[in-house]
This record gives sequence, C-alpha cells and structure tokens, in this order.
Amino acid sequence: MRAHAKCASVLPNSYAGANDDLDARPGLAQTAAEAMAVAEMFAAHPGMRDRAASVLRKYGCATMPLTTNDADRTEYWRRVVDHYVVNQDEEFDEDQPFYVIDLCRVIVQMAKWRKNLPGVTPYYAVKCNPSDALIDMVHALGGSFDCASVGEFTQVLGRGCGKPGDLIFANPCKMASQMKQAHAAGVHCITFDNETELDKIAKYMPEARAVLRIRTDDSAAVCAFSTKFGCPVPDAGRLLALARDLGVRIVGVSFHVGSGNNDPAAYTNAVRNARRIFDQGAQLGFDMKLLDLGGGWPGTEPRQGPDGKPDSLSFEGICAHIRPLLAELFQGVDVIGEPGRFFAASSYALAMSIHSTRTVSTTAGDEHQFYTTDGLYHSFNCLFFDHAHPDLHALRPDVENPLQVTTIFGPTCDSLDCILKKAEFPRLAVGDWLFVPDFGAYTVAAGAPFNGFATRRTKYVASLDL
Ligand SMILES: Cc1ncc(COP(=O)(O)O)c(C=O)c1O
Repeated sequence: MRAHAKCASVLPNSYAGANDDLDARPGLAQTAAEAMAVAEMFAAHPGMRDRAASVLRKYGCATMPLTTNDADRTEYWRRVVDHYVVNQDEEFDEDQPFYVIDLCRVIVQMAKWRKNLPGVTPYYAVKCNPSDALIDMVHALGGSFDCASVGEFTQVLGRGCGKPGDLIFANPCKMASQMKQAHAAGVHCITFDNETELDKIAKYMPEARAVLRIRTDDSAAVCAFSTKFGCPVPDAGRLLALARDLGVRIVGVSFHVGSGNNDPAAYTNAVRNARRIFDQGAQLGFDMKLLDLGGGWPGTEPRQGPDGKPDSLSFEGICAHIRPLLAELFQGVDVIGEPGRFFAASSYALAMSIHSTRTVSTTAGDEHQFYTTDGLYHSFNCLFFDHAHPDLHALRPDVENPLQVTTIFGPTCDSLDCILKKAEFPRLAVGDWLFVPDFGAYTVAAGAPFNGFATRRTKYVASLDL
C-alpha cells in the first residue's frame, strides 16, 4: 500500500483502458464509478487519504483490489475467500468460520454518502456492527457516531474517535443510570419522544441538547420502529411546551423511517413534518438547528425482482428525493444521518465450511442435509432480528452437477438452527466451503456463542489500492 500515492491510483490499474468492457458489464461500471467517487472525496479533503491508509495499515489489510476479472462484487468476495481457504496460514482451521473485512468498503460508502447527501454528516450507528476497525475508519473519514448506550459511547470515546460533544445518544428511552453517566461524560446530545423522558432529562441531564424524535410512516419498511419510538406529530407542540416549562433545551428533530423503507414519501413527509416542528419550536423560543435523518439507508444495491426491476429503492434514489427538500426547507441547519447498515453491510463476507451431512428420504424425494460452522445463533441471527435474506453461495459450485434439494443447518443442537430450508442448491460435500457476501450488518453485533460456537477469526483486506 502506498500511503502517498496520487488520487487516480484508487482506481485499480486493471481498469485502465477497459472502458468498453465496463460499459458492457454494469457491475464493473459501478465499481469504477465508486472508485472515482473515492478519488474525488480524497481530492476534496486533504489528509483524508493518509488517515484512511493508516487505518488500513493498523489492521494489516491485505491489498486485494477489485479487477475486471471479478464479474461483480460477489465474484470478488469469492476470489478473496478462496484465497484464504487455499493459502492457509498457521491459524487456519477448516472447522472455524471466518470473516473477511474489507475496510475500503467504508471508504467507498463514505464517498457515496458525501456525493449524494452533500453537507449531511453521517453518524455511524454503532449498534449495527461495533467493530473497532469500522469505527476507526468512519472516524478517519470524518464521520461521527450514533450511540445507543453507555457501552457504545465508552467504546467510541475510548478509541479516541471523537469528543463527547460530537456524539448523539440516540436511544429515546434511556435508563436514569445511563443518563447520569452520559451527563458526567459530557455526552449531551440525546433524543427523546415523551413526557416521562423530558422529566428525566430535566432531572439527570440539565445540560442536554435534546432532539425530539417523531413518528414516521414506516409501513413500507422491512424493519419498522414506530410501534416503539417516535412522538406522534400532532403531539409535538405539547412536548415542546412542556420542555420549555421544564427548562429543557430542544435543539432539533430526528426520525427513523425504518430500515429497508421502499416508500420515498416516508422520507419526504418526515422532512416536511420536521420543518413544521422547527417552526412550532421557534414560536416557543427554541433555536432549533439540528435535523437528524436517522438510519435505514440501504447498504447494498437493490436486487433484481422477478419482473426484472429493482426490488427496492437505491440509496441514490432515496437521496434524490431528499436533497431538494433539504435545500428548500433546511438552509442553515446542521443535518445529520444515522447510517448503520449503509457502512457495515458490504464491508464483511462470511466464510464457513460443511462439516457433516446426511440424506433424508421424503415422499417428495431425497433431501440433502448439511451442517455448517456458523448458524442462526451467531451471524445468521439477522434472519430473525433484521428480517435478512442472506445470499448463500457455494465457494466452488460443481457446475457439472444438477442442483439438489438442500437443507443447511448451523452447528448447534437446536433444530431451529437452520439457514437454508429445502431449497435448490449446488451439490455439496463435507469439506466444501460456503460464503455470504456483504454480510456485515446486524450479524456479529448480536451473535451469541450458543453451544460454544461463534465466528471469531477475521481477515482484513483492502479492495482499493491507496
Ligand atoms: C435510532 C437508530 N438510528 C440508526 C439505526 C441504524 O439503522 P440502519 O442500520 O438500518 O441504518 C437504528 C437501527 O436500529 C436506530 O434504532
């Protein structure tokens, strides 16, 4: 890795002169566009390239740039995982799953963020994946942090990734003990959505800069939050008046449209509602200067639906709806977002092997059952908690053989621990490897070592040559 190389070198050399090829292969064209966005970001922010390169060095990232031979990102992950399976180091154990972490995806995503939401500061939602490496990289690129607990802000501050005043404690219902610790630590920017919380803020966090979280229409979201958090918009005036009476300083409005929200109106209505609440606040004497657009921003590209059309909104598509509204309604206001999956999802791939197998005869024919080394209790907890649909691949599918009815279980003794149920899948055998591309969001974050199984090994790579 060259810490002081020029911007253009971010674009892998193998792309040079490959324009015809890129036009014919949209996945590659997108990769080239991403690399150009990174080059533009580095050019606009002196020192950022060196800071990012030093994080890559700190984690010993192996430089493995994407090339025109990688038909798309899945093929890139396949090549990288295969590299570690073939070139086994002394830690390698065929029964131990591992993560490959590409810290350059954080760089690419930051470049996309800055291009599509200029002037909006990303506060990485640590809950999504509290990896030290992701936190360090977000910090190196000028991002800040959304922390949901004392544990999270202690981790961030302990790493030297910002000052207490830079964070947002964005958990609308906080324990009194945590509020006291936040106050003592100087973490003053917090969210709330009800009267009781306002009383607690007045009591435990007299210096708080409070942000009112409002309810959104998240009926089109994959993960909805409005049943748990968010003040109904018509109630906002009453809460603001109470805050004034209690002497609580209200500095802004936040919302979260839910993750995977496919309705652009959810975002635009929330922004318009926030404007109305800013105006109500001004009438009550509050100087509101912070708009928090929340999380939910997609971290991967939309998949192709059965009709050939994208099955969800793209990040760029969402931003195209929001940008003009921010320009129209929120001039002179600090605008932030709380992206979690946006940074974490595409930074990780999981690799795991098949350790056991059996075939079960059913009236419908043979069902081929396999047992792998990570499962529902660890990385695949996202099947439950994040409504995820992981994209499982055989590392080296046998293209000569037909697909067969396959069930894949995780390593624990629970029959619920199943990650693929009676689906057509390439023929597998004991010792084969599987991989899951773009698997960094809400995977390790909530994984439990149930039955003593967990994915602990990591390999760091850099898909850009800085
Ligand atoms: C308050 C808040 N902000 C941000 C996020 C991050 O959401 P995502 O990872 O979908 O961007 C969450 C997720 O639960 C959240 O609750």
